[in-house]
Amino acid sequence: MRHLSTAGRLAGITLIAALALAPALSGAQERAPEAPEPSTPAVRPLSEIKPDTLKQVSEFDNIKDETERSIAIFKETGKVLLHPRCVNCHPAGNRPLQGMDMHLHQPPVQRGDANFGVPGMTCNTCHGPDNVKLVAQAEGIKSIPGNPNWHLAPIEMAWQGKTLGEICRQIKDQDRNGGKTLAELVDHMANDDLVGWGWHPGEGREKVPGTQEQFGKLYEAWAATGAHCPQD
Ligand code: HEC
Ligand code: HEC
Repeated sequence: MRHLSTAGRLAGITLIAALALAPALSGAQERAPEAPEPSTPAVRPLSEIKPDTLKQVSEFDNIKDETERSIAIFKETGKVLLHPRCVNCHPAGNRPLQGMDMHLHQPPVQRGDANFGVPGMTCNTCHGPDNVKLVAQAEGIKSIPGNPNWHLAPIEMAWQGKTLGEICRQIKDQDRNGGKTLAELVDHMANDDLVGWGWHPGEGREKVPGTQEQFGKLYEAWAATGAHCPQD
């Protein structure tokens, strides 16, 4: 298969439609939607990451101990961090995940050397600069997610299967967070475009709770209270 950079999105979409539809049409490989594949470690029951809102920073003012307040604020941001919209792109293996059940990405794409896929099957073969609404829906897929920078988080930034405390320590660790200072990490949460996709995930996909602005404010408050992490 060739890289479809110039052939245009249309060709890419046709390709996807063909790839995604083939099993549905043949009926041969019907997937049980609720059953995650065995190699996908469970992260957390969905009931814990609802509802769809984030608390305001001021709602934590009643926690007098600063360390405890910092931890409580971080835990609130965990509603976003542990959401499939984020974890699907921060997997522990070499394949992205899809959907609320975080099943392995179909078709079976690989992360490749630079996390952009492998030659002939790079992420941007199918994922364009924006979400693309599908006219002909296959297996209930209403849109293909998109962003100009769409690719997998490097393996040292894997969140899948980790506790909130582990993720907290990891994202503060400059050896594992892409060399970000605490201020740069806060800025990434508040302003990064790929992070922002979580609030605009396209037709047929549940967004992460709250707004990115609220999320950024929680991170500012977390940093200002010492950036403490939950035990687990
Ligand atoms: C399309 C894939 C994709 C999605 C979706 C995604 N990320 Fe990432 N993430 C990346 C990539 C790639 C990097 C590394 C590049 C960089 O640092 O800019 C990264 C890095 C990060 C980092 C840097 C530090 C670290 O240790 O991970 C944070 C924080 C982060 N993402 C947060 C989020 C949050 C929060 C969400 C959900 C709202 C999210 N990401 C969704 C691909 C993704
Ligand atoms: C052959 C086409 C194709 C290629 C190549 C491809 N994807 Fe996808 N991807 C899709 C389609 C179609 C969907 C939508 C499926 C759905 O919503 O169930 C999707 C969905 C996703 C999602 C799910 C978003 C969510 O939260 O549910 C992630 C993450 C993702 N792709 C990452 C990647 C990454 C990273 C690469 C490159 C390593 C990649 N994809 C390469 C077709 C592709």
